[in-house]
Amino acid sequence: MADLELPETPDAPEVADDGVWLHCIECGHEHPPFDDIIYTCSNCGGLLEVRYDRYPTFEEFDGRGVWRYNVALPFEAGVTLPEGDTPLHRVPRLREEIGVRNLRVKHEGMNPTGSFKDRGMTVGVRVAQELGVDRLACASTGNTSAALAAYGARAGLQTLVLLPAGKVAAGKIAQASLHGARILEVDGNFDACLDIVQDLADRGEAYLLNSLNPFRLEGQKTIGLEILEAFRVDHGRFPDRIVLPVGNAGNTAALYKSFRELVAGGDLDEDDVPKLTGVQAEGAAPMVEAIEEGLEDTRRWENVETIATAIRIGNPVNAPKALPGIRETGGTAVAVSDSEITAAQRDLAEEGVGVEPASAASIAGLRKLREEGTVGADEDVVCLTTGHLLKDPDAAAAAGSDPESVANSTEAVLRHLTGDE
Ligand code: F0G
Repeated sequence: MADLELPETPDAPEVADDGVWLHCIECGHEHPPFDDIIYTCSNCGGLLEVRYDRYPTFEEFDGRGVWRYNVALPFEAGVTLPEGDTPLHRVPRLREEIGVRNLRVKHEGMNPTGSFKDRGMTVGVRVAQELGVDRLACASTGNTSAALAAYGARAGLQTLVLLPAGKVAAGKIAQASLHGARILEVDGNFDACLDIVQDLADRGEAYLLNSLNPFRLEGQKTIGLEILEAFRVDHGRFPDRIVLPVGNAGNTAALYKSFRELVAGGDLDEDDVPKLTGVQAEGAAPMVEAIEEGLEDTRRWENVETIATAIRIGNPVNAPKALPGIRETGGTAVAVSDSEITAAQRDLAEEGVGVEPASAASIAGLRKLREEGTVGADEDVVCLTTGHLLKDPDAAAAAGSDPESVANSTEAVLRHLTGDE
């Protein structure tokens, strides 16, 4: 069973490089970080996490964006566009309607390629440079491929992406294409693409930059750090709960790691850790099932379907890191329907916040948990919206109203507006 406990005094093992090493969460084996290319434990196959010989404190953070948090990262700087420093919107009408003390929306769609994946890539591609690889690869429901293509291009590296054919939103494919990725459309879902890309990586064909790669999650940790800092400035305390959409469960694992490191370093009280609350679509909800049934790992769902194609995932590889994150913080997981997702996407749009369907799942999930009474009226909540509206223009257009055609004159426009036609 995964052990995510961080030691009080983190002594660097011999294999560490400049105070950084890779730790297996299953068997505890320590690995050198940059000698060989590994993604999982060579001893037992368990998930790895990046460990440091010191823990970060709020006081040390300096600058803007992801690299503000470089004391908590394996390098001082990386391949940057730049990323992070995203807005924490107030949504007063939604707050009132859902009925919580505070509701803020951390809009990760405001990153350079329009999703939170940029935070992972700025670190992951820097590691790829350190390792001296020349080809980067990922399986993706779309956003990872867009971020990989852009950051790979920036670093002058080849990029290869495997996508589930017919199930990736138009904006994401356009990004991967224009940034120069080689795009392979696979006749299968995301999980099948990830199986193949893992095989390719194991055979040395490419460097894997899915969230199975522990360095990706280091970059994504900064979402948690930004939320804590910004929320405290505005409200004088940390949020009670962070609600986020869950697919491969990398982000959930990353947020949990940011909190664990602050707790281990003594800068965050265990009681102040926000409750991590995951939301999945009903048609792709293995994490919700695992939480509800008290499972140690998820059961693989072979058939998954949802309008929120970004989280159309049946085999979340980071579940062994993310399930303890949800449980240990006192959070939960909930499934929402596609129509609840679309309704939440419209509600956010009415507040001026444009997000793709998967992102709206966080608001839909919060609404459901509030209605059920799982979330209290006195809670301070942050919902994470992970991707921009323009990522999936078809879903946005379908959720919005249709354009009306009108003849080419002012009179015709006025008649149309007043309905006197
Ligand atoms: N929201 C969006 C917009 C995403 O693109 C993803 C994942 C998630 C949420 C879920 O995050 O996997 O860390 O639990 N997208 C991946 C991709 C799978 O390929 O772009 P997670």
